[in-house]
Amino acid sequence: MKVSLRVENLRIYYRTLRGYVKAVDGVSFEMGDEEVLGVAGESGCGKSTLGNSLILLKPPMTYMEGRVFLDGEEVPIWDNEKMRRFRYRRISIIPQYAMNALNPTKKLKVLMDDLLREHGSDFKSHTAEILRRLKMVNLPESVLNMYPIELSGGMKQRMVMVISTLMNPSLLIADEITSALDVSTQKAVIEMLLEFKSRGFVRKIFFITHDISVLYQIASSILVMYAGKLVEKASTDEILEKPFHPYTEMLISSLPKIGIKYGERKLKGIPGQPPPLLKPPEGCRFKDRCPYRHSKCDEEPPIVEISDDHVVSCWKYA
Ligand SMILES: Nc1ncnc2c1ncn2[C@@H]1O[C@H](COP(=O)(O)OP(=O)(O)O)[C@@H](O)[C@H]1O
Ligand code: SF4
Ligand SMILES: [Mg+2]
Repeated sequence: MKVSLRVENLRIYYRTLRGYVKAVDGVSFEMGDEEVLGVAGESGCGKSTLGNSLILLKPPMTYMEGRVFLDGEEVPIWDNEKMRRFRYRRISIIPQYAMNALNPTKKLKVLMDDLLREHGSDFKSHTAEILRRLKMVNLPESVLNMYPIELSGGMKQRMVMVISTLMNPSLLIADEITSALDVSTQKAVIEMLLEFKSRGFVRKIFFITHDISVLYQIASSILVMYAGKLVEKASTDEILEKPFHPYTEMLISSLPKIGIKYGERKLKGIPGQPPPLLKPPEGCRFKDRCPYRHSKCDEEPPIVEISDDHVVSCWKYA
């Protein structure tokens, strides 16, 4: 695998009056070139924080430690000013709730022009390409003269996709882009995103979702997070067929099996709650919900390499 994104021991906390919320707490992973890496885990486990930190550290988000390399170059994520060179051009994001965050008072054409100008270009110099890409996602040229509110959810999400990839970024972070859509619109958005990738508008995608079942359709590998930590990362097939971490195992077993309708099988869910990230427990953060817990689990579990591209953080395998 040719590594093109490397994240080393990344810690991103939120500074609050009660102390630091340890949202991303020592996460390391690699991503291959042209890969779609799915990021899964329950709501609140730090997925958006991880994605957002690669673009912009908005207070109270605070860089604590860690390094990030993209295509062989260090990405200075701790320095918002230095990040201007990377932001949007080389690393772009479709933020969570992006489609509802479009400025409602501006026509889409004006919105795009503003954004491009912020990055040293303008709508005019990209018009031909914009029209070509709109066509590709089945949006008529006339949307450019519309206000965001005039578009349906699916149309807005496709528009956001076009906007965020206009500069052909090396890495696109797509945060819950299918979560507010119905199943058939989800499928269409995913197919279009893959089409963008195959045309080289974006090289690799960091695809965040709380719904691991969406990842069958798009991700080549899956990274599972729990309470600010990486618990497992492997190819999509291995994660789905042979999960090692007890949490991944529970996530997978709570999925409805293919061919069985939702109504026929009750989603099991995972009993219990993730720990508070303001004061997480010592050792394994999953221990209060884990059926395999033993005394060792009060110590921080090591990262174990099961194979070249399969890592798990659990005392069961140490
Ligand atoms: N602005 C903030 N201030 C304090 N805590 C925050 C803030 N934003 C998010 N958090 C906390 O950080 C943790 C991770 O949140 P987030 O990255 O949004 O998770 P996910 O995307 O996996 O749902 C959560 O515990 C959340 O409550
Ligand atoms: S380290 Fe221990 S408590 Fe944590 S998942 Fe593994 S067995 Fe369970
Ligand atoms: Mg999120």
